[in-house]
Amino acid sequence: MTPDAAWSALDALARRPGAAAIRPLFDADPGRFARMSRRAGDVLVDLSRTAISPGVMDALLDLARATDVVGFRDRMAAGAPVNATERRAALHMALRGAVSTPFRAGEEDAAAEVQATLAAMHGFVGRVHDGTLKGATGQRFTDVLNIGIGGSDLGPAMAARALWTPACPMRAHYLANVDAHAWQEVRARLDPARTLVLVASKTFTTQETMANAALVRAWLVEALGEGGAGAHLAALSTNLAATAAFGIAPDRVFGFRDWVGGRFSMWSAIGLSLALALGWPAFERLLAGARTMDAHFLAAPLADNLPVLMALAEVWHVNGLRYPTRAVLPYDERLARLPAHLQQLEMESLGKRVGLDGGALARASGPVVFGEPGTNAQHSFMQLIHQGTTPVPADIILVANPDHPFADSHRKLLANGLAQAEALLRGKDAAAVEAEMRAAGRSEAEIARLKPHRVFPGDRPSTLVLLPRLDAFTLGQLVALYEHKVASLGALWGINPFDQWGVELGKVLAGHILPALEGQDAPQDAATAPMIAEIRRLQGG
Ligand code: F6P
Repeated sequence: MTPDAAWSALDALARRPGAAAIRPLFDADPGRFARMSRRAGDVLVDLSRTAISPGVMDALLDLARATDVVGFRDRMAAGAPVNATERRAALHMALRGAVSTPFRAGEEDAAAEVQATLAAMHGFVGRVHDGTLKGATGQRFTDVLNIGIGGSDLGPAMAARALWTPACPMRAHYLANVDAHAWQEVRARLDPARTLVLVASKTFTTQETMANAALVRAWLVEALGEGGAGAHLAALSTNLAATAAFGIAPDRVFGFRDWVGGRFSMWSAIGLSLALALGWPAFERLLAGARTMDAHFLAAPLADNLPVLMALAEVWHVNGLRYPTRAVLPYDERLARLPAHLQQLEMESLGKRVGLDGGALARASGPVVFGEPGTNAQHSFMQLIHQGTTPVPADIILVANPDHPFADSHRKLLANGLAQAEALLRGKDAAAVEAEMRAAGRSEAEIARLKPHRVFPGDRPSTLVLLPRLDAFTLGQLVALYEHKVASLGALWGINPFDQWGVELGKVLAGHILPALEGQDAPQDAATAPMIAEIRRLQGG
């Protein structure tokens, strides 16, 4: 079957009356949960609460075959330049590969490069933890500050938020925004004599990171002198010339290669803050968790392959039912930064309007992704998800066992997550609203007035993801699941999920606007110039 034929078959199913209905699928098949849920390692994914009927699933699997998801996956694993526009491999799987797995990026032995960097990181972490490496005043390092943005911040910041406990060896802090209010806030928590600073930037040219690195370096120099600052600095980068120019000693630079995309880089040297804060064994468990999901992605048949199935559900929602957004709702406070990480992972990867051939896409690609932890989300935007005009598919992530002793709180948390999924699916029809209001003694006029507002349409999709517990191993599996979902969608939509040209224009324009804000005579766009003038007026310039 050709991709066009597979898309047409899917479109035809989506146009059928009732295609978005989910409840009848449960009525028709009491065993739907078992048929529509799959497990890989510790992760259970339940797709039963989507409008994917057996016929739709067949059509989606046909599409996966027609678009050669397996071929794309295998080329990616083999180190082929699947990042076609940049002519690069996408070998994040090599970062967590078993020592015996022969990953190659073209001529390069990627596995050997990874093992060498991991050994250097391990040695460095050991020396910091045992006090061999100390600060300039002879004090041990208690805090690590990671300066980076985007992929050089979000993954590690998310994982540190998820996994850090007071028993961990060091505290981790993350500085991303060029807004120096962020630095002011972080600085107040830090003592320069006990802080190890990691400048994390794949390119080592990112304006925000370089500006923050200069501020933090000045803070170190002020406290410890020019000679002392160096003992507190390390770099995580692919650009070794730039790290040297910044004054970071070569033995404090942890490299990675251009076949690691920023948003896929938390497993590389970019994860050093995690290894320092959580300890080396936890970092290894994180990699091992991701490796478990890699093995599943590489071996499981399409119909059982969790990342592929989640990608196919996204295709059904975005292209079949034309739902343009998706919510990520982790019912675990420790996963508070997961939506932010997935926003970059998914929207920077899949927010593309042209295919690999440069031609405009005939159909929609990546949806808007947003989210918040449950139950907080219920008291902010869930109103729209239940009763807004357009359904918003939701990933509801549940963790069976907490790491606190407050069992009752945890039961309430889980009850809320399950209740949201049930409310989205079942809704509440007019008859139920009427009966409820009558039972409460409300007048007929009142019932008529309020009934439309109190109806929940139902048939709103959700995907439940269940983990037995949240630890480094299960988090690694969860994040790798989403990474491979993204790669699968790249193949399904015929786009490059590994480039990000769309972030360049704003960076260049900021460079042109900066001189005007400094008061220099720099010609500006007609839309921008008056606002610059207004800002300068408010600044008294
Ligand atoms: O925002 C664009 C981007 O290039 C991301 O892809 C990347 O993760 C981020 O900037 C940071 O880049 P770098 O690690 O090179 O500083």
